[in-house]
Amino acid sequence: MLDIKTIRKDFPILSRQVNGKPLVYFDNAATSQTPQHVIDVIVDYYSSYNANIHRGVHSLSQEATDKYEAARHTIQKHFNAKHSHEIILTSGTTHSINLVANGFSALLNKGDEIIVSALEHHSNIVPWQMLCEKTEAVLKVIPMNQDGELVMAEFEKLLSKNTKLVFVNHISNALGTINPIADIITKAHAFGAAVLIDGAQACPHIRPNVQELDVDFYVTSAHKMCGPTGVGMLYGKEAWLNKLPPYQGGGEMIADVTFEKTTYADLPHKFEAGTPNICGGIAFGAAIDYMNSIGFDQIAAYENELLNYGTEQLLSIEGLKIYGTATHKTSVISFNLNGIHPYDVGTILDKMGVAVRTGHHCTQPIMDFYNIPGTVRASFAFYNTKSEIDALVNGVRKAQMMLS
Ligand code: ALA
Repeated sequence: MLDIKTIRKDFPILSRQVNGKPLVYFDNAATSQTPQHVIDVIVDYYSSYNANIHRGVHSLSQEATDKYEAARHTIQKHFNAKHSHEIILTSGTTHSINLVANGFSALLNKGDEIIVSALEHHSNIVPWQMLCEKTEAVLKVIPMNQDGELVMAEFEKLLSKNTKLVFVNHISNALGTINPIADIITKAHAFGAAVLIDGAQACPHIRPNVQELDVDFYVTSAHKMCGPTGVGMLYGKEAWLNKLPPYQGGGEMIADVTFEKTTYADLPHKFEAGTPNICGGIAFGAAIDYMNSIGFDQIAAYENELLNYGTEQLLSIEGLKIYGTATHKTSVISFNLNGIHPYDVGTILDKMGVAVRTGHHCTQPIMDFYNIPGTVRASFAFYNTKSEIDALVNGVRKAQMMLS
């Protein structure tokens, strides 16, 4: 059992007011809040050992380098990667996906096929479309059903010897669906295709084990899991990372440079050109430590309670429809009120201190599937409470009264 009262004290922002009302923060799928422990690590970096890494012989540089590399080890252990050099620190999920997509432009040929899913965020659609334009590879899409689940029988029909890559999110940001990624990976591997899983929405709720999954690439962002923005990771199997060409050229990613020829550094540095987000990387490690101190099993059990309570309470409102009713889903509830634009609901909720996201959630194909402009999305984290859900439900009722 989580002690939510004590946990909430770790998050200074949760005690502030918004528009004169206590903040109810239900936009966790967009970004999570930051515990004092992580804030302290950020302050400590800039107050005590701010220096560039991997470059200086001086003590501060050494200290910063050690802490940065220690964070990489924490990330490696958390995801159970075989080697720490299989963890590439990036600016976030989008950067990680683009890095892989760019690398594959050197490996794909005309007529090769890439499979994505109907549930993807734009960041897992657009880079592959750009890759297809460059290589004349063909993009195929696993369809979804009304509950917001992938139609696996259709996925099996799409697979062929031409399939080179499969890209699916672990959890849908718009609907909360947990996708059957283990099954997807096994089936794709049977055709020799590589698999990239976008874990941005999964990592706040689940601890993925990349070796057990046998996934080729797994990507995520720190800011969805109590860390800062501007930092994330790409896990890649060593063999794949060695095969891909570098994404960006610059300092730190080279072995030798002359005007005639440059040779590249070993992993992970080959993919880490330029000065990285040093403080962010260290804070990412601290965020992972913090979340593990709470415990992912407890987080999942409690968030499931919040999901069930929120679903039940919201469905008691006449004219409210929930989008995303998958059997396996996480604590995300996307909904609309009959005849009312989601933006208007979100604006009224904000006046009541309740923060939700409204719109298409960077998933226009999902909205097109349901033939709606967008939804109101409430996404819960382990520091939220049932009484905050009551505040949301009251706010939605009020919005309905004002707008009908
Ligand atoms: N992808 C983030 C979201 O779903 C920003 O809100």
